[in-house]
Amino acid sequence: MARTPFIAGNWKMHKTVAEAEDYIQALLPRVYSADGVDVAICVPFTALQAMVDSTRGSRVEVFAQNMHELSNGAFTGEVSAAMLTEIDVHGVVLGHSERRQCYNETDKALSHKMVAAFSAGLKPILCVGETEDERERGDTERKLRHQVQEGLERLTPEQIAQVTVAYEPIWAIGTGKVATPDQAQDAIAFVRALIEDKAPDAAEHARVLYGGSVTPDGAPELLALPDVDGALVGGASLDPENFARIVDAAVQLAAS
Ligand code: 13P
Repeated sequence: MARTPFIAGNWKMHKTVAEAEDYIQALLPRVYSADGVDVAICVPFTALQAMVDSTRGSRVEVFAQNMHELSNGAFTGEVSAAMLTEIDVHGVVLGHSERRQCYNETDKALSHKMVAAFSAGLKPILCVGETEDERERGDTERKLRHQVQEGLERLTPEQIAQVTVAYEPIWAIGTGKVATPDQAQDAIAFVRALIEDKAPDAAEHARVLYGGSVTPDGAPELLALPDVDGALVGGASLDPENFARIVDAAVQLAAS
């Protein structure tokens, strides 16, 4: 069973609309022929509409970086799934460790956000991963079990088959400290086993990405790992050439 590799760039809180437009004009010709690879940019709310318009007809999908689990209400500063699909956003990053740490995002809220995303027709990327302390204490699997089980708790097997989970060890995010191939493979194989526990037939379809200090030079080795279906790229995705080189690495592996 071949899963389509998926390379997603998470811009976090970077790029005005004008900067996003410059970026996408540089990226589109570079990924035009990236056959066999799914490509997405995950952009700030303010740049979503412009990026959806500028990528129409291209292979680049546009994702939001968060959304609320309810369809409307008195939640100042929040955005609903319907507000995203109305402007043709394709998907949404959910449970990024920065949102869990800085904004107290909980596994319970995420379990509802996953349902809300699927109900609206958005493709969710559920982020999971352990802190350095948790890894040193031997708690990596416990943390991942909790996050994956709760995140997928309310989904049907059919939805689980369409899920993307991004394993992002927190100690590797923005630190330049990449997980070793063994660490990445072991954790991602464990995530896949957790998915299999929940929905046996879905596990071979669900995609699991690696994220954390992915660079163009490091990407080929990580992407070649047996259970790694792609990458969620932060810092290196801010430069269109660097991001395109990571997409190139996935294209080459998909073709080999
Ligand atoms: P970096 O690639 O900058 O480490 O960020 C990873 C990340 O958090 C992507 O969501």
